[in-house]
This record gives sequence, structure tokens and C-alpha cells, in this order.
Amino acid sequence: MSQLFEPLTLRDVTFGNRVWMSPMMQYCAPTGGPDVGTPTDWHLQHLASRAVGGAGLVMVEATAVTPDSRATAYDLGLWNERQQAALARVAALLTACGTVPGLQLNHPGRKAGSGRTWNDEHPPRPDLRRLAPSPIAFGPLPAPDELTADGIADVIGAFARAAGRAREAGFRVLELHGAHGYLIHSFLSPQANHRTDAYGGSRERRMRFALELVEAVRAQWPQELPLFFRTSATDWLAGDTEDPRPGWTVEDTAVLARELTARGVDLLDVSSGGTVPDAPIPVGPGYQVPLSARVRAATGTPTAAVGLITEPEQAEKIIAKGEADAVFLGRVLLRDPYWPRRAAGVLGAALAVPPQYTRAYSVR
Ligand SMILES: Cc1cc2nc3c(=O)[nH]c(=O)nc-3n(C[C@H](O)[C@H](O)[C@H](O)COP(=O)(O)O)c2cc1C
Repeated sequence: MSQLFEPLTLRDVTFGNRVWMSPMMQYCAPTGGPDVGTPTDWHLQHLASRAVGGAGLVMVEATAVTPDSRATAYDLGLWNERQQAALARVAALLTACGTVPGLQLNHPGRKAGSGRTWNDEHPPRPDLRRLAPSPIAFGPLPAPDELTADGIADVIGAFARAAGRAREAGFRVLELHGAHGYLIHSFLSPQANHRTDAYGGSRERRMRFALELVEAVRAQWPQELPLFFRTSATDWLAGDTEDPRPGWTVEDTAVLARELTARGVDLLDVSSGGTVPDAPIPVGPGYQVPLSARVRAATGTPTAAVGLITEPEQAEKIIAKGEADAVFLGRVLLRDPYWPRRAAGVLGAALAVPPQYTRAYSVR
């Protein structure tokens, strides 16, 4: 019996299986005008094909909470009515395709203002603001502005409003992007947070922004629906590698996980890295799975593993060994939208078929 294809229930949501689509930016939303930040036909086919391919959850890419905080000009956004209506169509489509619709909210912080990954295109962005806990540049990007106390309250308010819009749009899972060096993660990491006020210094103070944000979002996100938090479980710096630079560690993540759970986070999506461009990351098959396993074992918090999980047997073992409750697949699902169907075949599991396609499965 495959455990990968066993259902999983969190709050009132049951996922048909534990093979989930990881959030992946497509860099093709309109960059201005009335449709700024809305999903396009490209997004619809991109997301629906993975839903029909059998993923138990499809997570819509990192979606900006304010216009001036888009990572690229091409990001999806959820700060206005029009975006909410367009994303409602996505949620309905994913539901009709038989999966659970999820959406990831993000503020890119000091990493705002990069270009498209394939041609580095940068349309003019007069409204762009790079906001961060401290004025410390990431790589070649200009240094960000340090957030004031009022600025922090504004960002938290923008996340809470976007969470309310995601609820109204019909999403059933909400994920906060607390990883990859973006704003929430940059508050956690001593690499990027040099504040001396209540939001910087000790680990408890560096966690304060994330915890206040989760509380504000939880108040807008229905009790019956699960809230996820994507974490960079380690910066791969001091404490976890030979690199002497101070960083956020797996031990810190275990402490954070307990605090998040106490505030209504239901699952930690365990990624890593992103605070410095040159961390010694041991990239290889399933390289982040041990991070998920450690956090899950130390805290009892449900986790999802992600990162170079590409083979059905590999994914099955992660679940069977209790290293995670689900796996998020990224690039392999871009290469093969029907990966979950293929994996179910390999593992001898049954996977529901859209009724429109039953003839393809009943006749050989
Ligand atoms: C094209 C692309 C876009 C991505 N966009 C996001 C994103 O919006 N949010 C996020 O948390 N991670 C993003 N990621 C990271 C993936 O979600 C995933 O964590 C990473 O690719 C590792 O998993 P994989 O080895 O299965 O691809 C992106 C990755 C790719 C390849």
C-alpha cells in the first residue's frame, strides 16, 4: 500500500494524496494597467494541467500583497478586487479539476526588483520599494530601506487583507512565504536583521515579526482551513555548516515551529537558504528532506519536504519513514505535469480520474 497516495486531512480539508505542486512564479502577469498582477491564460493552463495530472494540492505562486512590493513587475498580486475576482476563477478551476487550491502570499523585502529569470527584463518601476528589517543589500541589488514601526504594521495589515481576499476567492490553503531570503525570513536571520528595537537582536525578537504576522493572518483565515508557513529551515551558515557567518539554524526553526503551531499554523513547508547568495548549500537529491525530518521529529508539527524529489520510490520513502507528511514537487512537475499519475502507476496506487477521461482508463 502506497502511503504517498494516502489522503491527508488538516482541519476540514482532505488532500487526496501527498504529492503537491510547489509554488512556482511564472513571471507573466500584466505589469501595469487595470489588470496588473492578475493571472493570465498561461497561469490557468499551467495550474490546471498539474491538477489534472493528479497533484493533491496545487499551490499558486508567490503573490504580492502590495503593488510596491512585487519581486518582479510580472508577479501575481492580491491587493485589489480585480485580482481577487481573477484568482477566484483559478480557485474554481483547480477545484473543478479535482485538487485543493492553495495560494502563497509573499513580500520580497530586500529582494524586490529583480527581473524575469529567462531574460532579466526590468520594466520601469517608479513605485518599487525595497523594504527590509535593516539596510543590508542582497548581492548586487541596491540596499533596502529599513522598515519603521509604522511600516511593519502596514506590511502586516497588507498580508491580513490579502488573506481575507484569498478566503473570498475560494482558496482552501494559504501559505505564508517565510523562506528564501524574502521579507519574513530576513527578519528571522541575523544575517539580514541588525535591528536594535523589539524586532531585532535575540532569536525571540527576530521571530516577533513572523509571529505577529501569523496572528494577523490567522484572524482573517477561516478556522476550518489550514495555514502553511514555508520556512528556510537553515541559512547553511554558522551552526549548520563550516561557514562562520551568523545565520538562522535548524535548531532555530524547531523553536519557531512550536511558536507558529501555537498561533494556528498547521504545516511547515521546509525549504532552505536564500539569505546570502554564496552559502555552501549541499544541493543533491532530497537534500532538504533531513531538515523536514528533524523539525517534524523535534516538534511534532506536520511538515512537507521539498527540493530535488524526483522519483516515485524516493517520495514514497520520505512519507513511509515519517520524514514528512507530504512532498512538494517543483521542477519535475514542470517537466512532467502527469508525474503523480505516473508515480501512482509505479507504486500500484489508485488515483481518481476526471470523469471526462474515464474512457481512457477503462479501455485498453
Ligand atoms: C520557476 C520557479 C519558480 C519558483 N517560484 C517560487 C515561488 O513562487 N515561491 C516559492 O516558495 N518557491 C518558488 N520556487 C522554488 C520551488 O517552489 C521549489 O521549492 C524548488 O524549485 C525546489 O524544488 P524542486 O527541486 O522540486 O524544483 C520556484 C522554483 C522555480 C523553478
